[in-house]
Amino acid sequence: MGGDAVSRGDRACDAAEPRIGPLSAAEVPPLAAVLARAFRDNPLNVAVIQSDDPVFRIRCNFHGMWALLPVAQARGQVLAARLEGRLAGALVATNPYGYPLPAPPLLARFRCFWGQGWRVARRWARVFESLDALHPLEPLGYLGTLGVDPSLQGRGVGRALLGRWLAGLDREATGAYLETDRCENVAFYERSGFRMLGETQVLGARIWRMRRPAALEGRAAGAVLESAPSSSTHRGG
Ligand SMILES: CC(C)(COP(=O)(O)OP(=O)(O)OC[C@H]1O[C@@H](n2cnc3c(N)ncnc32)[C@H](O)[C@@H]1OP(=O)(O)O)[C@@H](O)C(=O)NCCC(=O)NCCS
Repeated sequence: MGGDAVSRGDRACDAAEPRIGPLSAAEVPPLAAVLARAFRDNPLNVAVIQSDDPVFRIRCNFHGMWALLPVAQARGQVLAARLEGRLAGALVATNPYGYPLPAPPLLARFRCFWGQGWRVARRWARVFESLDALHPLEPLGYLGTLGVDPSLQGRGVGRALLGRWLAGLDREATGAYLETDRCENVAFYERSGFRMLGETQVLGARIWRMRRPAALEGRAAGAVLESAPSSSTHRGG
């Protein structure tokens, strides 16, 4: 009894476990700001925004995320992570038959063009077209965005978000797909069962495309796989 109480107390004091849950409408702008900071220096964002000014890159990212999040909430999935009472990061995904997400409403698109400038917005449109051409045709969960506030990275938030999403897909025996523009993320995803599908370049940035097979019966959620995935069909790829 006493030991249990102590260990429960220790866990409570630890306060280091990220809490994963849905996002309220009021939290959309602050979460957009978190994701804007997370992706400030990602190679694809730098290639699209083409500015040496990190503050401008955050502004552009913020407007893109602000337009995306309500659509993803309504038609896909947004999992938000909280750590020590703060919004720490999020995972944005589409469901197997929910790709691609519809365009944001006109007002949100206008606000995004205004915030990013039309050149940046046009380059993002080109990026989405290029990646869409390589998107698998089969119904897969699609990890569109996973980002953690830089001040809270390395504390298990990204792993917790990914694990929660994959556990849901595993329950439905559904595979997953993602692209990443950071070489160091590849090993992180491999540890959750993703395997390399191919590499491409968009606006000069290297993009790694990864796929995770549907859960086999009895496979634990998020378990590491030993074997490579079977081949899949790609649009244009
Ligand atoms: C990638 C990202 C989401 C990971 O989230 P995080 O909360 O920092 O990561 P975690 O603390 O959960 O650790 C996840 C794994 O990455 C490793 N890791 C974390 N920070 C690392 C770092 N700075 N360098 C190397 N590895 C690191 C951890 O060892 C861990 O490995 P494990 O799962 O085998 O234990 C986060 O770093 C991020 O937002 N990066 C910028 C945006 C981005 O590239 N997103 C992914 C787009 S596909």
